[in-house]
Amino acid sequence: MKKTQLSVGILGLGIVGTGVVKILTEKHRELASKLGLPIVVKRVADIDVRRKRALKLPRNVFVKNAETVIDDPSIDIVIELIGGIHPAKEYILRSLRNGKHVVTANKALLASEGSDIFKAAHKNKVVIGFEASVGGGIPIIKIIREALIGNRIKALYGIINGTSNYILTKMTEAGIDFSTALKEAQTLGYAEADPTLDVNGTDAAHKLAILATLSFHIPVSYKKIYTEGITRITPLDIAFASEFGYTIKLLAIAKQLNTDIELRVHPTMLPKEYLISHVNGVFNAVYVEGDAIGPALYYGRGAGDMPTGSAVISDIADIARSIKGGANTLFRGNRIQRKTNLTLQKIEDIQGSYYFRFSVLDRPGVLSKISGILGDYNISIKSVIQKERHKEKVVPLVMMTHKAREKDIISAVKNIKKLTVVHGNPVYIRVEGGKE
Ligand code: HSE
Repeated sequence: MKKTQLSVGILGLGIVGTGVVKILTEKHRELASKLGLPIVVKRVADIDVRRKRALKLPRNVFVKNAETVIDDPSIDIVIELIGGIHPAKEYILRSLRNGKHVVTANKALLASEGSDIFKAAHKNKVVIGFEASVGGGIPIIKIIREALIGNRIKALYGIINGTSNYILTKMTEAGIDFSTALKEAQTLGYAEADPTLDVNGTDAAHKLAILATLSFHIPVSYKKIYTEGITRITPLDIAFASEFGYTIKLLAIAKQLNTDIELRVHPTMLPKEYLISHVNGVFNAVYVEGDAIGPALYYGRGAGDMPTGSAVISDIADIARSIKGGANTLFRGNRIQRKTNLTLQKIEDIQGSYYFRFSVLDRPGVLSKISGILGDYNISIKSVIQKERHKEKVVPLVMMTHKAREKDIISAVKNIKKLTVVHGNPVYIRVEGGKE
């Protein structure tokens, strides 16, 4: 039977859910004319539906129970926006089994249980859309899946956590420390009351797992991604990085080198002249290098009701078009290869340049002791800064290296730390780009 409208049911009326309803109601006629059939919000489930007052929907649309939405035979698309693993996974699987298409923004779920979800979508011949899971309003999933289909993705670098980017930007611009910048972000509503997953890099790792799955056509769990957050970054390191011509960003990195894949999330020094180094505040950006297009940079708002709502609408629109047009070209999860010759590199095996900061006693012979150990591990110094002594006996000794192996960096740091002239823990930050 020909459909005369598409009915959606929303699970979770938080920030994104509210944005989705706003777009669907305010642009109802516009969307119906663009898509050839109207999209109707049939049900919205949330335990707490206080936000409903601001929305232009009939009262009987709001329900407390997710099953009321999932098991409603008149609903075509379930939009899961409750987040977390349980019960979101069960709700999604039940919706798929009920023959409903699902749209989700749930990055944590897809980054850990994505295989089960994609398999279930494929088995039930329905669509799973997840544009809103990475990069908010930046259509990066569509870009990788559709626009860049003719490319082999050689590298991808993403600033995909707005909270961390806001904090690092503030630390850089105002010279303030991590906790002060975090507090400011919380006051302005840019950071959650519990910002752990944002500042420890996990949220970026979730998103990188999704981007890597699509880029390399292999299943990737975020648990396999080396992840380091921004909590140990100090204004001192930001200032030294600047003196060397670099800026510090929390970067999600995916690279393919022959049959090796590197996936990692960590604070990274980037040359100031790179475009991506100028992505500040809560904004996100993803730099992609494809073998056909070369470099490309995608920039926009990575969070918020309307940008993320816009991403959800784009998945709904794809489903509407495929239902209208009859040809379903959407992702159902079966394009992921299970057998692959690609191997995930261990962090110890990556190679790159590094920034070091040692707190040392300002005495003759210190530099030669440290450079001797670096030399023993084949680490070549590119440049050094040592600040003059004022009253302090301990001064920062800062250096940048040529390309070295992480394994050697770790061993050298361990030995340098044992020197009596070295105080505290040496700091090292990975560097991407810049002249060798
Ligand atoms: N917490 C995320 C961020 C927003 O700070 O970027 C949604 O993905």
